[in-house]
Amino acid sequence: MRRVFSGIQPTGDIHIGNYVGAIRQWVSLADEYECIYGVVDYHAITVEYDTDGLRQRTVDTALILMACGLDPDRCHLMVQSHVIEHTELGWIFNCLTPVGEVERMTQFKDKSRQHKANINMGLMDYPVLQAADILVYKAGFVPVGEDQVQHVELSREIARKFNARFGQVFPEPQAILSCAPRIMGTEGKNKMSKTLGNYIGILEDESSVWEKLRTAVTDVARVRRTDAGNPEICNIYTMHRAFSPDQAARELDKGCRSASIGCIDCKRVLFKNMMAELTPIREKALSLKAHPEPVLDALHQGAVVCRRFAAETMEEVRDVLGLLKG
Ligand code: TYM
Repeated sequence: MRRVFSGIQPTGDIHIGNYVGAIRQWVSLADEYECIYGVVDYHAITVEYDTDGLRQRTVDTALILMACGLDPDRCHLMVQSHVIEHTELGWIFNCLTPVGEVERMTQFKDKSRQHKANINMGLMDYPVLQAADILVYKAGFVPVGEDQVQHVELSREIARKFNARFGQVFPEPQAILSCAPRIMGTEGKNKMSKTLGNYIGILEDESSVWEKLRTAVTDVARVRRTDAGNPEICNIYTMHRAFSPDQAARELDKGCRSASIGCIDCKRVLFKNMMAELTPIREKALSLKAHPEPVLDALHQGAVVCRRFAAETMEEVRDVLGLLKG
């Protein structure tokens, strides 16, 4: 069975961009593939973080994934640092990756601007560790949001380079994008992101979600209520494509273009559809938070299985590299 790998950082609240860009398809892919989903804690320490909160954020992230529908009986849920082979393979990939390749990564450039006082080696090496996360399981598919496509491309290049130098070991992984691979923030200018604080959290209560939607930027070209709108450049419409039934989204598209509905009406429909999907997730998350044992069990089980998969790959890798057996 072909494998899928994807990961999420335990950096704080999970937002609706993470959910519709990545997590929701993680759930559906588990029907067809052997899926491994990681809480990537080693990636999270590439920027300043609060050590006291990291353990809790790691559990909370796994808990939210389960609340979103990831069933540990149908996929493997793991914590990256529990499987040391990720970092081992990362080192080997470092020796194959030109510095220029990682320096040109958009995320590295953005994060270097955001964290000027701490541009560390890990920040630069981030996509190489990401390639190791995927390839240590020989995963062929990687469901991610659009911002991660460049990193998946680098994983392909690393796999190609490794195979050319040492023989065929790795598949060339492909990114899988959802129907809403890039959700913009509520200010409409930047990608929705935990660090920028322009997000709608997946566990936020109704009044807070409505307040953020009510004031969210729409199509800036539609100044008056009577102006015809352009759904293709409206972030609210992108969210409709993710949360509203196709037929409803088509009608809203028509209503917006003909100015028969206004932005606030459109937002009310979105709010209703969004909450219909998010409320059960919030309820499930609260109940798992009160009794987190199934989450801890899932992570333990995930570590056991993933260590076995990763050890198999590393045995092969060490062999083709010419390393002496211990
Ligand atoms: P992270 O935690 O930043 O994001 C998790 C997933 O959410 C997607 N995403 C979005 N999708 C649509 N719109 C948005 N505004 C939005 N914001 C975030 C991201 O694309 C991602 O799929 N580097 C990865 C973590 C990682 C990983 C891996 C992923 C580490 N190793 C191996 C795949 C395979 C990341 O961005 O996490």
